Amino acid sequence: MKILVIHGPNLNLLGSREQELYGRLTLPEINRQIKKTAKKIKVEVEIFQSNNEGELVTKIGKAKGKYQGLLINPAAYTHTSVALRDAILSVGIPAVEVHISNVYRREEFRRHSFISDIALGQVVGFGPGSYLLGLEGLVSYLKERSRIQGKRSTRTLESSNP
Ligand code: DQA
Repeated sequence: MKILVIHGPNLNLLGSREQELYGRLTLPEINRQIKKTAKKIKVEVEIFQSNNEGELVTKIGKAKGKYQGLLINPAAYTHTSVALRDAILSVGIPAVEVHISNVYRREEFRRHSFISDIALGQVVGFGPGSYLLGLEGLVSYLKERSRIQGKRSTRTLESSNP
């Protein structure tokens, strides 16, 4: 099972950017924690960061068939991007939206997300831990789904080969 992890704009500046909101960990340090969690729960991850909306859309657009799940912090594009929303809808891969800060405790405009109503779930406000919780939730959903699908196809086989 392979998960695509996407970090949106300005997340490359973590560690120095608004530390009171986002903490002191840098993006490479957070990525190391994501990889450690991935190893623990036995999934592969590919991690991608871009400040460019088009690059994010293109990356998601190529995800079908390569990744079973998407863990995404769309950062500021959360609140603005119909294009990212459409990209996620187009590939139909289950997506979990994460935010380091609690976006509901901040400015009014951060309360609206173009992603949340098409996401499998959302994790906000746990610092970099939001990524780890989001990854665990996404993977346990995917494992349960494939277990159910596996059972269903065994049943179909049994009924066609009595
Ligand atoms: C963020 C919250 C967004 O509102 C903001 O634009 C970010 C980071 C977060 O992780 O808390 O860049 O996605």
